[in-house]
Amino acid sequence: MHPDTTGSWTPVALSADLPAGTVIPARIPAGSIALWRSESGRPAASANRCPHRGMSLSHGFVRGEALSCIYHGWSYAQAGNCLRIPAHPGLTPPQAIRVKTYPVEETGGVIWVAMGEPSANPPKFEGFVALRSLMAEAGIAAIEAAAGAKASPAGLVEPAESTGTICLLLSAQEDRQTLLHVLLKGEAGTAARIAASRAAESLRRKAEDLQKKGIAQ
Ligand code: FES
Repeated sequence: MHPDTTGSWTPVALSADLPAGTVIPARIPAGSIALWRSESGRPAASANRCPHRGMSLSHGFVRGEALSCIYHGWSYAQAGNCLRIPAHPGLTPPQAIRVKTYPVEETGGVIWVAMGEPSANPPKFEGFVALRSLMAEAGIAAIEAAAGAKASPAGLVEPAESTGTICLLLSAQEDRQTLLHVLLKGEAGTAARIAASRAAESLRRKAEDLQKKGIAQ
């Protein structure tokens, strides 16, 4: 299993980075998605393309339990069906107007999105807290080389120098970029969080250097 997909699940973002009533862009192997959380707190993932004229839905806005497109205001339910077309307020939108959606799960402070119907739940990393996410201009091989360790089948890398306190959950992006979710062991205090964050930034720099030099392809 390649760590860019973690089976059919992809770790797209940390829960803390998606407050209620917001939408952000994210990526799964199928392409770009709009990841959003309704005002009642339920996460959802939609293809990042409005069925009307193709505007990115991640530029849109959340009202209540719906995601609205910024261009002409068509709004979509979490199931993907169109709820409202502002230019035709009396019209019930046809069922055929819908945006593709993907299964979403949250575990341990990580938001996972699946392609198709997943046969199992996403991985759980017991004993870790999700700290932050970083984007690296480096592929997974360069991250592994910088960490001195291979990713597990679940996409988790434990850097050789971390003494078991930090793990990086990898999500491959476009153009040899990798999203790194930093997981920290236990309920660590502020000093440990700062140290872990700096260690992750240092590892990212090292991986980017290796990528630039073409050492890890
Ligand atoms: S492009 Fe989205 S509502 Fe028109």
